[in-house]
Amino acid sequence: MKRYYVTTFGCQMNAHDSERIKGMLESLGLGEATSPESADVLVYNTCTIREKPDTRLAAYLGNAAAWKRERPDLVIAVGGCYAEAQREALFERYPFVDVAFGPGSIPHLAEWIGAGGVGVARGRFGSHDSFAAELPARRERRFQAWVQVSMGCNSACAYCIVPAVRGREQSRRPGEIVAEVSALAAQGVKEITLLGQNVNSWGRDLAPAVRTDFGELLRACDAVEGIERIRFTSPHPKDFREPVIAAIAECAAVCEHVHLPLQSGSSRILKRMRRTYDRDRYLALVERLRDAVPDLALGTDIIVGFPGESDEDFLATLEVVELVRFESAFTFIYSPRAGTEAAAMADQVPEHVKHERLEALVEVVQRIARERNEERIGRVEEVLVEGVSRTDPGRLRGRTRRNTTVNFVGTARPGDLVDVVVEAASSTTLSGREAALAVV
Ligand code: 5AD
Ligand code: SF4
Repeated sequence: MKRYYVTTFGCQMNAHDSERIKGMLESLGLGEATSPESADVLVYNTCTIREKPDTRLAAYLGNAAAWKRERPDLVIAVGGCYAEAQREALFERYPFVDVAFGPGSIPHLAEWIGAGGVGVARGRFGSHDSFAAELPARRERRFQAWVQVSMGCNSACAYCIVPAVRGREQSRRPGEIVAEVSALAAQGVKEITLLGQNVNSWGRDLAPAVRTDFGELLRACDAVEGIERIRFTSPHPKDFREPVIAAIAECAAVCEHVHLPLQSGSSRILKRMRRTYDRDRYLALVERLRDAVPDLALGTDIIVGFPGESDEDFLATLEVVELVRFESAFTFIYSPRAGTEAAAMADQVPEHVKHERLEALVEVVQRIARERNEERIGRVEEVLVEGVSRTDPGRLRGRTRRNTTVNFVGTARPGDLVDVVVEAASSTTLSGREAALAVV
């Protein structure tokens, strides 16, 4: 039997696409290899959101090329967003690549890899014609699943390559989504994460045939027996309407956690980014969310060093971070992407300034995250057990409804929902013990 190995870069959408890629390769009769060195088919599911994943990929492909020189039968396939952005240039840069495919072409991958995994086609890019969601998937955990609700993105954020590589937004039909969620629940899945580039605009393109919105979808998923936790990512602040907020507040399974990308706290920069909200609208949304959903945890994405960002603009970002007090934040240095509007802007910020700003931002973000987590000490949190702690094999690891990782002493098993008493906190994790044990 031939063996495959899939290496995944980038976001949860990519991680989910990789499950479909694995499912497809298994339907071709391939088995999973334990390491890339021992595989007959290597698949790289790439990301191109910033320059860093591009450089990491180059290093991975360097290794793959060396293995292929020793074993010419080795099939190398490159998929995902970098492949889509590069198209034919990918084969010029990496001539040893056998198969290349964009994120819209996963349904065709089996034809190109060929029965038995021999690599028959040079590659096809971005037809975006059908949902990979309909394909078989190989899930990492039996009790957690991603569910794709849409593909593509209609926003025009000036920094972002995603619309160029993932195409226009297409929503999956509600009936198909709910049928998948029901099937997952029947297989024992307790937690689902609904995935879309902008989940809050889900459904708009289905009108007039279907009139619905993301709030309705949350309610329909909440009604599925066995689904205990619902998460979603990512919502765009510009499309966060009342019905969705009400659904988050009223659905028992929808978790008290929203990832709400801020990007910048300066209205001037937000405008240049084409985010279509300003600082005050963002802050007002945070207030509405917190009023509606008690104990809500907020995460965010922030970019520093967008073209034209002055010291004053950056201070405005720090100010919003202090005002909102996010539970967690992903912080990024602006990285120009060829073909995007911002890459062509004249007033690029010097590298050393970007780095200084990132450092200053990370310090504030981490301090606040630690303080936020410390506020949980002494509380009981419901934890979905995911496995053994990464740092201490004597402990278990799981996540709270508010999406914080907890390492704890206990006897529960992966997939269990247990109450944990929080005893200590850092900026990224909590630790504690099962409530049942703490009582004794
Ligand atoms: N440079 C830096 N960060 C970026 N992001 C998207 N494009 C870029 C870029 N060109 C960040 C945004 C987005 C997250 C997924 O990646 O913050 O929300
Ligand atoms: Fe995900 Fe964007 Fe990276 Fe593509 S480019 S994998 S959509 S983060």
